[in-house]
Amino acid sequence: MKVLVTGGLGFIGSHTVVDLLNEGYEVVIVDNLVNSKEDVLSKIKKITNKDVTFYKIDLCLKEDLRKIFEKEKIDSVIHFAGLKAVGESVEKPLMYYENNLISTINLLELMQEYGVYKIVFSSSATVYGNPKSLPIYEDFPLSTTNPYGTTKLMIENILTDLYKSDNKFDITILRYFNPIGAHKSGLLGEDPNGIPNNLMPYIVRVATSKLPVLNVFGNDYNTVDGTGVRDYIHVCDLSYGHVLALKNKKTGLKIYNLGTGKGTSVLELVKRFESVNHVKINYQITKRREGDIDSCYASNEKAVRELGFNPKYTLDDMCLDSYNFIKNNN
Ligand code: WQD
Repeated sequence: MKVLVTGGLGFIGSHTVVDLLNEGYEVVIVDNLVNSKEDVLSKIKKITNKDVTFYKIDLCLKEDLRKIFEKEKIDSVIHFAGLKAVGESVEKPLMYYENNLISTINLLELMQEYGVYKIVFSSSATVYGNPKSLPIYEDFPLSTTNPYGTTKLMIENILTDLYKSDNKFDITILRYFNPIGAHKSGLLGEDPNGIPNNLMPYIVRVATSKLPVLNVFGNDYNTVDGTGVRDYIHVCDLSYGHVLALKNKKTGLKIYNLGTGKGTSVLELVKRFESVNHVKINYQITKRREGDIDSCYASNEKAVRELGFNPKYTLDDMCLDSYNFIKNNN
């Protein structure tokens, strides 16, 4: 079985490629390297001792992508590629709508033309907006508060309409909660360019003295200690969820939350990180970040029941592995 992985050199994509190769799939990666590095390819090969085909392609250039469908006999697709910085999407909405939507429409049109009907799509819990209650179930109302999240919701709608028009498609939408951590080898992980937007990469930069202090965005939320609560899931649990999605015998249009079902506050995560890594994280409480919500965590019951999804890594693993990756790569 040959799987086309778009964005396969990115944080979640690269971990998923490792799992696919270990499960015996053939993998073809397309990535434009806007938010990833080509040397990840050698790390994937080192971890798996397997070859993987890579094409540097911008999915917005349909005729370039067509060449891949001409050359490779693709059986299924996992679609990670897309711009994903919330703040940047607010500043540059047109760039986000053009890139994330055109790339996806090109991909889906070529899939249909070449008779490739199985796709797993990388969506996000951000499509739930500010949930009415917790935990969050897949049938909850959807709303978004930034262009990045809106592109995810629009793509979910495109996939839904596509399935209604052509039910040969077998579509799985995976809504990620907060992926953190890194591969145990220390070879793959998350190291965003510039100042990190997300919490864990920022904590790691403070732990390694690359940044002086962590700004905790508000401690007046309605949570256990006033700081924001999220459902952190180890990237290796998340990546294996994609293998399970490909193996799922259920066909049609399916939607699953990929989270642990547990909520952790900012300060709880900081304390765990300090404890397991024996470091001190300087932090200061600052004002809330625009658009943040108090709490967000998943019900993952449907993924457990239908996919056999079974997150096994703990918060301690996530903290240890995140730090281990950066120590190995700086
Ligand atoms: C987590 C918590 C912050 C940074 C985002 C996207 C979502 C998905 C995951 C792509 C919040 C607090 C953060 C910091 C802080 N991305 N925080 N200081 O906002 O839950 O989700 O990333 O799919 O779409 O929205 O993740 O890591 O940015 O924030 O206090 O420097 O940490 O307020 O409570 P978020 P995050």
